[in-house]
Amino acid sequence: MPIYEPAEDSYLMSEALRKELPKLLKVNPNLRLLEMGAGSGINLVTAKSSGIKIDNILGVDVNSKAVKYCRSLGFKVILSNLFSKIDGQRFDVIVFNPPYLPLDEKEPKNSRRETTGGKKGNEIIIKFLKQAKKHLTKEGKIFLITSSHSESVNFNGLGFKAKEVANKKLFFEEIFVWRIAKNSQLIKNHAKIVKVV
Ligand SMILES: C[S@@+](CC[C@H](N)C(=O)[O-])C[C@H]1O[C@@H](n2cnc3c(N)ncnc32)[C@H](O)[C@@H]1O
Repeated sequence: MPIYEPAEDSYLMSEALRKELPKLLKVNPNLRLLEMGAGSGINLVTAKSSGIKIDNILGVDVNSKAVKYCRSLGFKVILSNLFSKIDGQRFDVIVFNPPYLPLDEKEPKNSRRETTGGKKGNEIIIKFLKQAKKHLTKEGKIFLITSSHSESVNFNGLGFKAKEVANKKLFFEEIFVWRIAKNSQLIKNHAKIVKVV
């Protein structure tokens, strides 16, 4: 499996992180960040240059070549399918530039891991968000890319609130960076319902 070469989506995420991370670091200088699908490590490098301590940065990828490469850059990186190999740890920031395109049978099988999110394109994102909840601190933020090519994600329905913080129009596509947090309102309402019942 080749390592994903940084592209428009990687650069858009970097740009968003460079804007957003300093604000979060002001509130918590000890921010712990996990990047899911670290690939070439471009956003691990952005996290470090934005001021996150290298010991507080963890990369994850399902591609062993990407894991090896990011380790050679000096980062802690785990070979894992989404959060399967991450123990009970929680992070203040979780970043994911996921495979987000709908399945294209013409795409070579060995590059699908980098690009294809499933038949509708959003399946890996949904799996990721469901698993991410228990790895995110209470006030934690997820930065996630989606594309106009794939079916949209119902963030609210999954218990999150999301705000678009960056976007880029490409030739026939638009890509978005979302800042996502747990919807504490939903949690509070749920607690009320449980009480009444
Ligand atoms: C679009 S690339 C992004 C790479 C890099 N973060 C960037 O922005 O350039 C998606 C990355 O997610 C990884 N990936 C795909 N499915 C994964 C999974 N189930 N668990 C962990 N990583 C995965 C791929 O190997 C690839 O490195």
